[in-house]
Amino acid sequence: MAREIIVVGEDDWTQRAVALITDAADNSIRVRGRFRIALSGGATPRPVYAALATTPGIDWPRWELFWSDERTVPPTSPDSNYGMARAMLLDPLAAQGVTPGRIERMRGELEPAEAAGAYEEIVRSLAGAPFPRFDLIQLGIGGDAHTASLFPHTAALDTAALVVANAVPRLKTVRLTFTFPLINAARYVLMLVNGANKAGALRDVLEGPRDFAQWPAQAIQPGDGRITWLLDRSAAQYLDPGSYTPR
Ligand code: 6PG
Repeated sequence: MAREIIVVGEDDWTQRAVALITDAADNSIRVRGRFRIALSGGATPRPVYAALATTPGIDWPRWELFWSDERTVPPTSPDSNYGMARAMLLDPLAAQGVTPGRIERMRGELEPAEAAGAYEEIVRSLAGAPFPRFDLIQLGIGGDAHTASLFPHTAALDTAALVVANAVPRLKTVRLTFTFPLINAARYVLMLVNGANKAGALRDVLEGPRDFAQWPAQAIQPGDGRITWLLDRSAAQYLDPGSYTPR
């Protein structure tokens, strides 16, 4: 696993995220004729998705959009990760007459185990053995160091399944999520993290003692792939300055 930590100024963070994603897309399309990306939810990627919608030269028909997690809500809910990406990216693209080649949302409106099983079947139907390698899985982390919907001390942290319904008692909800085996099979994982409110979690994940149950994002280690942590200075403020090259 090749790991890099990139720290940029707050004003440069979004455009750097766009550049990392579009570079990965260009490379994947050149080599494999497609770009299979799994998007995350939450607030952090919103400006990145909005910026992608207005970035020229993207070969959208070769992009295959998936999601690495979803809330158990309909796509019209304000809590839907698909709904957020639709508002920030898909609808602005449609207004330009552009549609990605494939859009596979997790169906949060279904009974959670049924929705997770259906999505696992879609993922397993993709080429690749023993299971598919996403060209890029884009993730964030929460203040508790969760990623996707892999929350501390929850059942989804320890499973051989690829997509599960994960009960999250702290949130009194069930979430749909990729699991570590699927995430760690990715060719490239891009962790998008900004803001001072993530600084403590980042220090725990990147520099703390190994404890995957307590800090799940520590377990994101794409064995044959590479991982980039794209941080702004606020999020990186507690990290050892020798652990990254300021850009
Ligand atoms: C979700 C996301 C989740 C997110 C973190 C950070 O469904 O909420 O996939 O893993 O990346 O919770 O969320 P923010 O970007 O809102 O801080």
